[in-house]
Amino acid sequence: MSGPHLLSVRDLGAEGVREVLRLAGTFAEVLSRPVPRVPALRGKTVCSAFFEDSTRTRLSFELAAKRLSADVVTFSASSSSINKGESLRDTVVTLEAMGVDAFVVRHSCAGVPVQVAGWLQGGASVLNAGDGAHEHPTQALLDCYTLTEERRRRFGPAREGLEGLQVAVVGDIRHSRVARSCVLAFSELGAAVTLVAPPTLLPPSLEGWPVEVSYDLSSVLPKCDVVYLLRLQTERMEGQFLPSAREYTATYGLTAQRARLLGPDALVMHPGPIRRGLEIAAEVADGPASLITSQVASGVAVRMAVLYLLLGSGVNLAGS
Ligand code: NCD
Repeated sequence: MSGPHLLSVRDLGAEGVREVLRLAGTFAEVLSRPVPRVPALRGKTVCSAFFEDSTRTRLSFELAAKRLSADVVTFSASSSSINKGESLRDTVVTLEAMGVDAFVVRHSCAGVPVQVAGWLQGGASVLNAGDGAHEHPTQALLDCYTLTEERRRRFGPAREGLEGLQVAVVGDIRHSRVARSCVLAFSELGAAVTLVAPPTLLPPSLEGWPVEVSYDLSSVLPKCDVVYLLRLQTERMEGQFLPSAREYTATYGLTAQRARLLGPDALVMHPGPIRRGLEIAAEVADGPASLITSQVASGVAVRMAVLYLLLGSGVNLAGS
């Protein structure tokens, strides 16, 4: 492999996660300036290569690279020579030959970013921006950052850490790369994670996952510090996983009524895009416990931190 890369939260370990969060704090300060830009990656070129739909992740990576003064090129799969029959491998090797220093890769197939990292020979880095149902490491990092910052802001520095927090990750765990990365990152920082889902939306095996499992959201909510809701990934579902969307909302949705079971300091998170009225009621998504907008805002600073660590600091973040 060339490298260094960020392919999985697993590559980082607790120290790596903490380093990203610390640096993200520094870049958040940069973003609050009238001119929110530093020259840290001047001369570097970042290619965003999204082979699957995305709004927030792609734009937030591109903005992060621009805020660090890197050049950004956007690879659009639908209008590329992949449509003329070129292989993915030939395409990325061609782009690397043009001088791309980092590829931000999203693909509907798990494992593509790892494969791209293996093909690159010239030292370019790969950042996994979500691969199938495998991982989405920067989402988990920005969630850890948001939670730390919001807890400090709301409850003071003594309660900012994730150590000992009870986090419920609720919904379509089976198809969710966000769940896989979040479970790893939250547990690295000492939180206790409970997965809450109907049996059909859990992965076939949870061996090695540092989690508890519950099928009863209402009984879990009173004990939660954080409820992390997931979107139903209907685009990945082959076959019938649920009796109906209505039934899902009735049993696993964070309805306004069910949200009343939460403690006064409990926080609600969701990676977006949210489906109002399905996994979360509109008034809960827009209510005071919701960190959803704050999560999106943190994305730029956290991705600046990751890009800087990979391209600007000489640190081998992923140990590859
Ligand atoms: C997630 C994704 O694409 O994996 N979205 C995101 O990046 N914020 C979750 C989702 O699509 O439900």
